[in-house]
Amino acid sequence: MKKLITSALPYVNNVPHLGNIIGCVLSADVYARFCRSKGYETLYVCGTDEYGTATETKAREEKLTPQQICDKYHAIHKEIYDNFNISFDIFGRTSTEKQTEIAQSIFQDLEVNNLIIEKKTKRTFCEKDSIFLADRFVEGVCPHCRYEDARGDQCDNCGKLLEPENLINSRCKICGSNPVLKETSHLYLELDKLQEKLKSWSQKSGDIGKWSRNAIQTTNGWFEKGLQARPITRDLSWGIPVPRPGYEEKVFYVWFDAPIGYISITANEREDWKEWWQNPEKVELYQFMAKDNIPFHTVIFPASLIGSGKNWTLLHHINSTEYLNYEDTKFSKSRNVGVFGDSVSDTGIHIDLWRFYLLANRPERNDSVFEWNDFIEKVNSEFIDNIGNMVNRALVYLKKNFDGEIKDVPLSDDQLKFVNDCRNDFIKVTEAIESVKIREGLRGILAIGNRGNKFFQDMTPWEKIKTEPEHAHATVSLIAYLVRSTAVALEPYMPETALKILDMMNLSNTGWEMIGSFNGLDGHKIGKPEILHKKLDVKLAEKFRKSFSGKCPEF
Ligand code: MF3
Ligand code: ZN
Repeated sequence: MKKLITSALPYVNNVPHLGNIIGCVLSADVYARFCRSKGYETLYVCGTDEYGTATETKAREEKLTPQQICDKYHAIHKEIYDNFNISFDIFGRTSTEKQTEIAQSIFQDLEVNNLIIEKKTKRTFCEKDSIFLADRFVEGVCPHCRYEDARGDQCDNCGKLLEPENLINSRCKICGSNPVLKETSHLYLELDKLQEKLKSWSQKSGDIGKWSRNAIQTTNGWFEKGLQARPITRDLSWGIPVPRPGYEEKVFYVWFDAPIGYISITANEREDWKEWWQNPEKVELYQFMAKDNIPFHTVIFPASLIGSGKNWTLLHHINSTEYLNYEDTKFSKSRNVGVFGDSVSDTGIHIDLWRFYLLANRPERNDSVFEWNDFIEKVNSEFIDNIGNMVNRALVYLKKNFDGEIKDVPLSDDQLKFVNDCRNDFIKVTEAIESVKIREGLRGILAIGNRGNKFFQDMTPWEKIKTEPEHAHATVSLIAYLVRSTAVALEPYMPETALKILDMMNLSNTGWEMIGSFNGLDGHKIGKPEILHKKLDVKLAEKFRKSFSGKCPEF
């Protein structure tokens, strides 16, 4: 099976914070790297989601055109993800001709299949600005949780999806006045007609693809309430034209076209895009996102694809995270609270240590928190004192006492047992990552570090070397093998660190297959061992907590 991997396409109206990064691109990156290492044919696709009111409102704010906003933020996103070593095969964007072409053709297929209906409804209209106010052009009180600043498309507090007309006390984002309701026509996708097909597809896919729990719950919730027709057009100019007379002033709703972006971004770069996107028998689609994106990927986008009647590759596994909070609050760009992607490198902390902490603390079953104290403490105790220590101790010992030469010798019983235990550990790690249990996989690797350190301690090579040098040499050689396997297993999580380990050993990454191998390097000489990462100074916690608290902009 080929592995097609996506992470949710970020809007171009913001700079992603740590929560955004762990929620999508970083998690998908671990899985993509794992798949490549395992030898699966893999394609990891992402890009910026550029149409709609998120962009238009930002453009007004920054006094730029929507196109300029897209160009500016596309570059910002790209730079941040490069800094995190996110290994996209393609990082594209949605405002392209291909996107228009594919979105319009899916729309036309839906039309032909009688799944599009026109409805006259009353929509929010600002008399002062004399425009209809779609989505984020309206703000007001959330009807569900009473949050004061809910946006017309979604409440940031309770996460519920909204329509501008649902807001209480709504106001125009441009001028602040209260909008009125005015009649206009829009096109709707008749999800209700697809309910049965979608439901049976999602039950099957959820089962086979082992969807995350929150995805199953949210999706079932939608089916229980009963699907309803949803508008797929908007009164806006920054979007894809609707190919139908009378719709010259309207465009497609951004959530109709955005997921199609996965397809068009691929099509822009790859002639063989249909081998990925219209090949459900040979391709498994893995999609990573934060929980607020779930229904778009489990109900609405599949509805467009299934409804089109073409043989699209549909979602196999959805991996939807909960939220990452920051210290005792939420990330907030406007209040300048929390760590945003563009300031990560200013801290001087190695990117792999950021990756390590975010992945070890990934909000899988519950929301989790980024805390500076915890960050520094976990990096030091769980990674540096553990894996860092094992690597350094074993390699230095091998270098010093055996001229860095690995030796395959007959093993004693306790050495054999160690090899078996390690192999079992690695089988569990592989199973965890294969089923996209990313935190569990990392935890398994850390446990292997502990096992290696304990083995060194128990085997007392520094004693044995005096009486049975072969035994001591076998012990450190086994740990060197373990270090090699650990590096390969760690590569999806901490790619630069993994490479550094293999480099120090004069080895290269030959892929997941060699994990658990404890022979074959007889006579191989390792290079010069170096410290992997220096421990983080605990005083940094205080310093960074202050500088990222929104109270002092410089540090
Ligand atoms: N831009 C959306 C967000 O940031 C995510 C879009 S995902 C895709 O919430 F499906 F549209 F691609
Ligand atoms: Zn709410």
